[in-house]
Amino acid sequence: MLQVITSIEDIKQRIKTFKEDQLSIGFVPTMGALHEGHLSLVRQAKEENDKVVVSIFVNPLQFGVGEDFTQYPRTFDDDCKLLSKEDVDVVFNPKAPEMYPDGFCTSVVLEHLEDRLCGKSRPGHFRGVATIVLKLFNLINPDIAYFGQKDFQQTVIIKRVVADLNLGVNIKALPTIREKEGLALSSRNGYLSETEKKDALCLYKALIRVQEMANAGVKNAREILGEMEKIINNCKSARIDYISIVNPETLEAVSEVQHGDVAALAVRIGKTRLIDNIILMVLIAFFILLA
Ligand code: PAF
Repeated sequence: MLQVITSIEDIKQRIKTFKEDQLSIGFVPTMGALHEGHLSLVRQAKEENDKVVVSIFVNPLQFGVGEDFTQYPRTFDDDCKLLSKEDVDVVFNPKAPEMYPDGFCTSVVLEHLEDRLCGKSRPGHFRGVATIVLKLFNLINPDIAYFGQKDFQQTVIIKRVVADLNLGVNIKALPTIREKEGLALSSRNGYLSETEKKDALCLYKALIRVQEMANAGVKNAREILGEMEKIINNCKSARIDYISIVNPETLEAVSEVQHGDVAALAVRIGKTRLIDNIILMVLIAFFILLA
């Protein structure tokens, strides 16, 4: 049965009993408003661990001034129903004053990585993400933690924090779950009107085009980016925040596309900022020389 835990003391106690019983812990951190994307992480966590803990916490530290912190969907009761169905063991739902008591002033800063891509238009966002994830890892002490590839930069940053701070948590980034037509699932899709939802397909179309170009042997990033830009700009309600093709570890823009590089974009559809990405498969030609 799903156990709801809201205090730091209680989650520490629960985790202690799991550890005493030598049970492995899979952890899925979320901000709630759960959808199939989150549930795919939960299902994988269930398969690979003895116990599964999901956190639901709308983290104020990762929202900038003028962003949607107050508006962000809070659907705790529905979320718990979904998690019960998936047979999750614990949902951790702390309150902000306990996570960030008066005097709180420590944060995780990632030089370079946090300023690229989304970091440019969301200053402080990844510092907030890295800080809450580190706090949650300290409390839950998971063996494996699961994240969605849709938030590609977030997964790179969390992997970096784990490596740099020797956290010993295995980080798994699982594929983006999409609606039938291709729109990546996101808790923010609920902000979109029906027309905007159709417009939002331009993100996916642009990413598909990148892969097609890579398949056709186009390597010049500028040429590919130009094509993506055209596809997005064809949609009247879309405003590009960024489009980039980056190295998957450094997040630095590349000029020549290689296998494993990531095409990432953030686009505003009306007032809603959406992100998406694709890990590029670039075919390598092998020549077998017969003697
Ligand atoms: O991806 C999210 O929902 C959040 O950024 C996370 C990882 C739960 C941290 O608040």
